[in-house]
Amino acid sequence: MSNNGAYPIVTVRIQRFNPDTDKKPYLQEFQVELKPGTTVLDALHEIKAHQDGSVTFRRSCRHAICGSCAMNVNGKNELVCKAPLKERLDRKGRVTIRPLPYLPIVKDLVVDRSSFWEQYQRVKPWLVPPENIPEKEFRMSPEEVAALRNAETCIMCGACYSSCQIIALTKEYIGPHALLKAFMRVMDPRDAIPGERLADLAGGDGVYRCRTIFNCIDACPKGLNPTEAIETLRKLAQKRQAFEAARAERQKRLSEPIPSP
Ligand code: F3S
Repeated sequence: MSNNGAYPIVTVRIQRFNPDTDKKPYLQEFQVELKPGTTVLDALHEIKAHQDGSVTFRRSCRHAICGSCAMNVNGKNELVCKAPLKERLDRKGRVTIRPLPYLPIVKDLVVDRSSFWEQYQRVKPWLVPPENIPEKEFRMSPEEVAALRNAETCIMCGACYSSCQIIALTKEYIGPHALLKAFMRVMDPRDAIPGERLADLAGGDGVYRCRTIFNCIDACPKGLNPTEAIETLRKLAQKRQAFEAARAERQKRLSEPIPSP
C-alpha cells in the first residue's frame, strides 16, 4: 500500500458509539499516512482534524504523564501517545482501537471512570500525618523512600483497572490502582493510620478479592507491579497490630537524622 510513493497508507479501525443514535458499538475504518514517528494518538488526531471531527477520545499531555489517553489497542490496554503506530499494525497494515474495557462508554473511545475514581477516594489516598508534627522536616531513610517508588510513579491512567477480570465482574472491588495507592500510604512512615487502612483493605472488597491474575502488571504502561503491592498488603493485614505499633514507634523519631547503615 502506498500513497503515490509518499508514505504508506495504513488502516485505523476505531470503535464508534454514540449513545444518542447507536444501538451498539461498531468499528469504522479510516486511512492515514504512516509518517515516521507516528503514534496511535497522532493517527487519532489526524483522523479527527482532517477526516471526521466527531471521533471522540481523551488525551492531554502526549508524554505519558497525564494518563488521559489509555485505550485498548489490538486487545491490550495502553497509553496511545506512547504506542508507535508502525509497531501496532497487523500483517494487513491495520490497527484496532477500542475504549478501555468493562467501563460504560460515554462516546466512542471515552469511558465513564466514575467507579475508578470512587474506589480511589475510598482508600483515602492522601497522607494522614501524626498529631504532633515535628517542627523540623520528616526524615526518611533511602530504604523507606525506595519502598514508595513503585506506587509513586502511577499516573492513574486506568489501564490496570480496566484489564482486571475482577473489575469485569464487579465494580465493588477496590481495584489494583487504588490498592497500589493504599500500599503507598501504608508504607509511608509519615502516615499515622496504617492500622485503620489495613483493616479497611482486608474487607470483602479489598486485597482478598484479588485472584492474582496479573493482568494489571501486563497493562501498566509504567511497568509497575500492583500485584506485589496487594500481596504485601495481605501480609501486613495479618500482623496489623504489630505493624501499627512499629509505626507509632517510628513516628517518635520522624525528625531525627537517619542513622547510617
Ligand atoms: Fe486484578 Fe491484578 Fe489481582 S489483574 S485480580 S488486581 S493481580
